Amino acid sequence: MEEHKLLYEGKAKKVYETEDPQQLIVSYKDDATAFNGLKKGTISGKGAINNQMTNLLMKRLEQIGVPTHLIRELSSRETLVKRVSIIPLEVIVRNLAAGSFSKRYGVVEGVVFDQPTLEFSYKNDALGDPLINSSHAIALKLATPEELDAIRRYSFAVNDFLKALWAECGVILVDFKLEFGRLADGTVVLADEISPDTCRLWDAKTHEKLDKDRFRRDLGGVEDAYQQVMRRLLEHG
Ligand code: TMP
Ligand code: ASP
Repeated sequence: MEEHKLLYEGKAKKVYETEDPQQLIVSYKDDATAFNGLKKGTISGKGAINNQMTNLLMKRLEQIGVPTHLIRELSSRETLVKRVSIIPLEVIVRNLAAGSFSKRYGVVEGVVFDQPTLEFSYKNDALGDPLINSSHAIALKLATPEELDAIRRYSFAVNDFLKALWAECGVILVDFKLEFGRLADGTVVLADEISPDTCRLWDAKTHEKLDKDRFRRDLGGVEDAYQQVMRRLLEHG
């Protein structure tokens, strides 16, 4: 990557410029953080798994009509993507109660919802990514009403598709976080990643956690969990 200029380094990825101003290279790291960076660690092999899983899932999502930033995988941990300006919203879809939903509303983890929920957090580390609603997002000029409509539609379509795909792998898609961006012409596309860092994935039979909660909650077996979900996706997805 030495020949490419580092544009941005996040907690889990680095982004490099390319000769084409509309294309960037994303490089996935093994670094893991939680609780707004308070907890730090390494998950060996994570970068390659998250890169390959994200690309496999985004390719499938493109086929069902969800536009993404993906261009092509370059190596085990690097991918060429379309340049977007990220819409500073964490878009969270939930099928079962877990994590901050359970904490906020006092609901035991694992309660199944009658229909999926959708929520937005304002992507702002200094403020601790506060929960906001769509009119707040418009007031803050984070997105237009039309963009929020597209984001809502794509997010539920992603959920329907991924829930069914993971079910074939014996995995419950509990919840996940998406990020969207705007291309130069304003088109909204799915960006960032879809991986065990950004999804809760439970074994369908045992409800064993197969995602980053193993790191967040010091449950052990983190690397094994990432490898296992990747293997299941390759074999059954
Ligand atoms: P939460 O229950 O902590 O709000 O998390 C909901 C989902 O979003 C879960 O699948 C993990 C994912 N997530 C991220 O990808 N990044 C984050 O910074 C947080 C807090 C959650
Ligand atoms: N990405 C988040 C952070 O470091 C944490 C998380 O996924 O829980 O703060």
